[in-house]
Amino acid sequence: MMNFNQFFIFSLLPLVINAQCDPGAIYSPERNKCYQYHTIDEDFKTAESICENSNGHLISVHTAIDNTYFAQQAQKNLYNGLVWLGANADSPVLSNPDNWKWMDKTPFNYQNYQSGQPSVLGSSACMVFNASTGKWLTPSCQNSYPFICASDPVNTVQTTCAPQKANKCPSRYAWLEETNACYKLVSSKKNFTEANAACKQEGAELASIHSKLENDFLVEMSTTSANSSIPSGHSFVYIGLVYLQNKWQWTDGSESEHYRNWAVGEPNYLNREFWTVLMPDPCRADYNPTGTQWNNIENMEQRAFICKKPAN
Ligand SMILES: *[C@@H]1O[C@H](CO)[C@@H](O)[C@H](O)[C@H]1NC(C)=O
Ligand SMILES: *[C@@H]1O[C@H](CO)[C@@H](O)[C@H](O)[C@H]1NC(C)=O
Ligand SMILES: *[C@@H]1O[C@H](CO)[C@@H](O)[C@H](O)[C@H]1NC(C)=O
Repeated sequence: MMNFNQFFIFSLLPLVINAQCDPGAIYSPERNKCYQYHTIDEDFKTAESICENSNGHLISVHTAIDNTYFAQQAQKNLYNGLVWLGANADSPVLSNPDNWKWMDKTPFNYQNYQSGQPSVLGSSACMVFNASTGKWLTPSCQNSYPFICASDPVNTVQTTCAPQKANKCPSRYAWLEETNACYKLVSSKKNFTEANAACKQEGAELASIHSKLENDFLVEMSTTSANSSIPSGHSFVYIGLVYLQNKWQWTDGSESEHYRNWAVGEPNYLNREFWTVLMPDPCRADYNPTGTQWNNIENMEQRAFICKKPAN
């Protein structure tokens, strides 16, 4: 039988990361949004009203990064075909961006039309993309397709039990009760020097890791959003462990001897690989994507990274 402590530890991750979304919705820590993937086909108006019922809207897309993210997620969670985006034209002149409105009222400032688009056969036009290409088309709003709703996460900690916990972390940082620290995955890739500087700029440091629980939490954090937001889809990220004066030290100055989680054969190349990533490196022949162990690498490699700061 599982004892209480085991149960608590295993249930802690979903509680911290996922409990902020409606059941079935996927939390993106990187975007701080909940995404619900609806596999049933609905017409545009019905799809949007289903999203509004969960305090959200059909997704809006503002950058090529958003577009790639949603296309990848749609392929993974829906299928390879056409999926509603939340834009609706209020005039037949579809080529004029001013005639398009996003349901969430954000500006219509990006388009990624398939060649030959926009064009419409019916009396109204709404936006879809082809999940396998990310390209946009403008079918009739009466057609039916699967869809994705986006909504803001609800802080369940705040609403259910302990209101004082709500503001422990700045926005986009996730709180871990066990360490009483705040963590943020930054998916834009940087070399170690720049990643270190980027965390410091926010009053944080690259993450130090002192327990299996903390390691698991950060692995979970980096894998849930890694595929989508890191273009090449790798979930390895810089942490704050560096080899200095012949010993491994955390950049935040925390005690460094206690917890280690090196992958088999690591650390190696101690004459040049002075920096550490959370996950095994997919560029290696012995790469095991299910591993959650550390690897030392060279500074110039561009990686996503995790910043950590004490909770308020
Ligand atoms: C989506 O794009 C793929 C690849 O180009 C194509 O094979 C498929 O027919 C497209 N689907 C639709 C519904 O247009
Ligand atoms: C990331 O992508 C790989 C390969 O496409 C896939 O095997 C893996 O399950 C994905 N991981 C997540 C967390 O989506
Ligand atoms: C890290 O990136 C910055 C900016 O691109 C560059 O100036 C610096 O030389 C890089 N450092 C290393 C060690 O690659």
